[in-house]
Amino acid sequence: EREQHQSKKEAHQMAAKFYHHLLMNTEQGKEAYDYLTARGISEEIIEEFQLGYAPERNDMLVQLLEKREYDLEEMEEAGLILRQESTWQRYDRFRGRVMFPIHNQRGQAVAFGGRALGEGKPKYLNSPETPIFLKHETLYAFPKARQAIRKQDEAVLFEGYMDVIAAWKAGVKNGVAGLGTAFSKRQAEQIRKATDKAVIAYDGDNAGRAAAWKTGDTLVNQGVDVRVALFPEQMDPDDFIQARGPEAFRKQLAERAVPFMSFKVQELRENKNLQNEGDRLAYIEEVLRETSVISSAVEREFYMKQLAEEFDLSMDALREEERKVQKEDQ
Ligand code: CTP
Ligand code: MN
Ligand code: MN
Ligand code: MN
Ligand code: MN
Repeated sequence: EREQHQSKKEAHQMAAKFYHHLLMNTEQGKEAYDYLTARGISEEIIEEFQLGYAPERNDMLVQLLEKREYDLEEMEEAGLILRQESTWQRYDRFRGRVMFPIHNQRGQAVAFGGRALGEGKPKYLNSPETPIFLKHETLYAFPKARQAIRKQDEAVLFEGYMDVIAAWKAGVKNGVAGLGTAFSKRQAEQIRKATDKAVIAYDGDNAGRAAAWKTGDTLVNQGVDVRVALFPEQMDPDDFIQARGPEAFRKQLAERAVPFMSFKVQELRENKNLQNEGDRLAYIEEVLRETSVISSAVEREFYMKQLAEEFDLSMDALREEERKVQKEDQ
């Protein structure tokens, strides 16, 4: 039986090869090649991730697809090309960008992320949602990382393509990334099929930490044991590797990542003055709100004891407060 949307996938495969060839072997690709080199991306890594370059010209891919007799209507549905409204002229979606092919669970190219060289806007342009590219079911580099995830019984979650690639180069091959959208239940289910442990390694800014909280909750709900690796403010894992080297990075993941609940406690503490009584009560309540839903009694007890000791409270008082919080949340 002929696979559904076969030609859309074939076209992506072909486009990936085409972009890769332009990056590696042509004068047009030189600026992109130099850009990648400056970011520490070697030829070996370019090959490994099949990186490419989509040139500035309007209709390079349109022409190739036409020559190979692809149905251009279908190629528009596949997200590879667009059509100008006034002239109906077809043109390439990706122009003047470094190309990151995105693969489905079976390792077939189904979409692209394209990064502007330098400061162009938007920084990343991604394929739209299409019949072969369901964003909330796709994780960047998952087919590549799956084996290492199984073997190490742990997945590492990054925010960006470049983080996955830099980590790979640093010897961390069990890394995947979401695709600029909120981490979904379906993505968590996929991780859970390969392992029951994950480290979240998002960017060290406020947005990254807020996203880590949400992603962690989604993973915990699927039965994944989560740790969070924190990076200095203004640094993402790629920056960290560039600044401190692969060994420090691997250490950050292996030894410095904290259990998800400790991360939450740390976050709740931020912007609070625990000398102040109101802040202190609010903090205790917020921590209890988080611990009260932990399914393991032992773990729940651990964090409550920590609170009891820290503020010199009885466990009875904390349990009573916990019940109050739970009632409020119902
Ligand atoms: N992203 C996106 N569209 C944007 C910006 C970001 O889809 N306009 C997605 C990309 O998948 C990107 C990820 O969100 O990799 C993280 O964004 P950001 O941290 O801003 O980019 P980096 O991955 O750090 O990219 P770079 O290092 O190339 O600047
Ligand atoms: Mn090659
Ligand atoms: Mn396991
Ligand atoms: Mn980043
Ligand atoms: Mn980055």
